[in-house]
Amino acid sequence: MAIKYFENSKTFKLDTPNTTYLLAVVDDAYLGQVYYGRSLPDSDLNYLLRTQENPLVPSVNERETLSFYDSFAWEYPTAGIGDYRDAAFKVRTTSGHEVCLLKYDSYEIVSGKPALKGLPATFAGAEADTLNITLIEPDLGFKVIISYGVFSNVDAITKSVKVINTSSDTIYLEKVLSSVLNFEKPDCGMDMITLHGSWARERHMCRREIAYGRASSSSIRGESGHQDHPFLAVLSSDADEDRGDVYGMSFVYSGNFIAQTERNQFDVIRAEMGINPEGFTWRLKPGEEFQAPEVVNVYSSQGIGQMSRTFHDLYRNHLIRSKYKDMQRPILINNWEATYFQFDTNKLLDIARAAAGVGIEMLVMDDGWFGKRSSDNCALGDWVVNEEKLQGGLKYLVDEVNKLGLKFGIWFEPEMISPDSDLYRAHPDWAIQVPYRKPGLSRCQLVLDITRKEVRDYAYNCVYKILKSANIAYVKWDMNRQLADIGSIALDSDCQGELFHRYVLALYEMQERLITDFPDLLLENCSGGGARFDAGMLYYSPQIWCSDDTDAIERLTIQQGTALVYPLSTMGAHVSVCPNHSVGRNTPFETRGYVALSGTFGYELDITKLSDYEMDMIKDQTAMYHKYNDLVRNGDYYRIASYQENKAYDCTSVVAKDKSEAVVTFVRVMGIPNVHSQRIKLKGLDEKKTYRIEGEERTYSGAALMYAGINIGGLWGDFNGRLIHILEA
Ligand code: DGJ
Repeated sequence: MAIKYFENSKTFKLDTPNTTYLLAVVDDAYLGQVYYGRSLPDSDLNYLLRTQENPLVPSVNERETLSFYDSFAWEYPTAGIGDYRDAAFKVRTTSGHEVCLLKYDSYEIVSGKPALKGLPATFAGAEADTLNITLIEPDLGFKVIISYGVFSNVDAITKSVKVINTSSDTIYLEKVLSSVLNFEKPDCGMDMITLHGSWARERHMCRREIAYGRASSSSIRGESGHQDHPFLAVLSSDADEDRGDVYGMSFVYSGNFIAQTERNQFDVIRAEMGINPEGFTWRLKPGEEFQAPEVVNVYSSQGIGQMSRTFHDLYRNHLIRSKYKDMQRPILINNWEATYFQFDTNKLLDIARAAAGVGIEMLVMDDGWFGKRSSDNCALGDWVVNEEKLQGGLKYLVDEVNKLGLKFGIWFEPEMISPDSDLYRAHPDWAIQVPYRKPGLSRCQLVLDITRKEVRDYAYNCVYKILKSANIAYVKWDMNRQLADIGSIALDSDCQGELFHRYVLALYEMQERLITDFPDLLLENCSGGGARFDAGMLYYSPQIWCSDDTDAIERLTIQQGTALVYPLSTMGAHVSVCPNHSVGRNTPFETRGYVALSGTFGYELDITKLSDYEMDMIKDQTAMYHKYNDLVRNGDYYRIASYQENKAYDCTSVVAKDKSEAVVTFVRVMGIPNVHSQRIKLKGLDEKKTYRIEGEERTYSGAALMYAGINIGGLWGDFNGRLIHILEA
């Protein structure tokens, strides 16, 4: 059993294959975090509790109760009692008070991992057990249940929190975070890693020292966002890619979030993650429940790389449900960068014809096929095929594409409404807005209030009808603006603060309907590029568009940052035309292919305008995709060198689980004069195995490839890449 309770020390011990998490009930009331790290034997529990060093417990030393509160390693700290660090939980009573204390009440252990109602979450059968600890507010009478999912096959422990109003008064939840971790600062100090960026620059890694005070990464945009990301790692300052203690926290949620560290007067660090309390309140009447989303906690004693591989394994096997997660996805060609809004049936069929001959397997028709949509100024919400563009209708187009041997995919943006649309003219009140102010536009559009059932039914039924009308194999679900002017006419005045979270729940409900109604559909989420690339969306779609920036060099940093948490099998990555539309850069066609092969792979260009050489390259690349994709999708990912750090070259590899094969992607970004080769030390191989490099005669030991390395030469010029295939000899 992965979860044990020791009655004599009132201690809970949670064990994954290589990690232990310890909780203890102190002074018969307070739930504290004792330890999280490498596996420990059961025998050390009493020493770790250090009760003899803790004379401050309130039952012994009531006069210093606040000193205890302000220094205790709370598992779930509350606001207002005199713990002056940031709280994970805050309520407001109907009388306006904001003080509460949660005391230990009881526990239960259940086998398996129950789903969270209405929310995405990791799932497991026999590979996990769940510990539910109930805390109670003794004076206000409500309960909080913290659930711990403990995996037996991967080093992950999930936490989620449910509030049940067992009192006879309404309470207002103002903050319900999902996970808190406490760290005593090691001598070397502690750092944090977060992911940041902007449109076309998503998920750049940022590592910094955890200094005194609070440091956070957050969103109040209604989605996870391009700018910050629902991920946080806390690591010892001497940890690197392959060594040292690293704690990763990843939020399985797609809306407003906060990920924060706080270093206090005693050099103790509290790390927290959950729904951003800014803009959040939730009215909980007697008898009602509130379920906060799940945070996945991962501890690695072998550096950042092992943390990433643990997240990859967990998300591949215990989060993504789509049957496509275990399959090679069809190589697609998307017409967005080829045509933007200017296309018709003939143009799309020209693209499909050219694509069919070079190994491409699906045509995706992007934005612009519906209503009067000839630019991004209008028509969102009018999901009726524009037959001036699609002469003959959608079914005709899809059938013709199918006849060429290609599948067909389509773009939607179901959550949005353009002021210049028939939908808005009929239902101006369907947009999210407050009653006293004209809402601000972004990309000339407003957001539909999908928290209202009639609105989300309309939006969903539009998608449903189109999908039923033709043989559509794939949907790209886009979302091109973030939320503002938060207000819903369907919510009471004391519930307006619920809208952000209700919006996310409504989105999840729509996507659940979609994948239930169309179980064979391949769904790709997208948000103005990669603004909703998060673990929550992966529960619904096995792949997410990583960024609108398709430049191979920009993608090195974006994809490495994304792969810090998410498996390569989830990253929408395409080869596009040069000069690149985001940065104007020219890179070799080969390099663009190598970089996109680290993701789901496809094309985003006007294939009818390519040279014979480029068409031949596509034939090679589509063959390479089939050759390597099983390995890329299922293997272990290693960061060998990061261009973001060294400003010269980038190198990653994927190693088969049985270490029989690896593919190494190397890109020399900037050419360097008078340097003839670059030494690369491979990772993750079996030092005792003998390997060969495809295309070479000789063999190498795994030890030599990893500890001595190989020289990569012949890289004259900028942006040149290599794909190196290593096979067991
Ligand atoms: C943003 C997406 O990221 C693009 O790929 C494209 O689908 C546009 N939206 C269409 O409006």
